[in-house]
Amino acid sequence: MTTKVLMVCLGNICRSPLAEGILASKLPQNKFTVDSAGTGNWHIGKKPDERSIAVAQKNGLDISIQKARQFSKTDFDNYDYIFVMDNTNYYDVISLAENESQKNKVDLILNALFPNENVDVPDPYYGLANGFDNVYQMLDEACTVVASKLIEKHPY
Ligand code: 4NP
Repeated sequence: MTTKVLMVCLGNICRSPLAEGILASKLPQNKFTVDSAGTGNWHIGKKPDERSIAVAQKNGLDISIQKARQFSKTDFDNYDYIFVMDNTNYYDVISLAENESQKNKVDLILNALFPNENVDVPDPYYGLANGFDNVYQMLDEACTVVASKLIEKHPY
């Protein structure tokens, strides 16, 4: 049995694929499974945005084999933790939840760095290229905290 973590953004091509790759790199593979999904359906089946692939590669991670998929209600049962990138993702995911225990699985990823502040990871899709570097740094810092908490809660 592994502890399962899902990263969620809008398109599942920019932010959540990075979050998936970064968190997975900080956790022991035999104890944790990390995946990602988008609330939207436009990019289903596509690999991550080239700019996300590039910033990951620059930091030593290969995320190019990931394939976008849409978040589904069944993810509430299949995952133990669901981290969303921004407040819109939070609203979209929570509105599909059927009970408190499902809602309690969901949190904004930057709350790992700024507890209860509900800060967004900005969507870099339409922005400048360095937006991807900024997103990478934020996610790297947040995932360091998330990974140490997960390892503490689920010792191996
Ligand atoms: P992501 O970025 O949610 O970080 O994957 C986006 C990717 C695509 C679109 C929006 C955000 N889009 O509108 O196609």
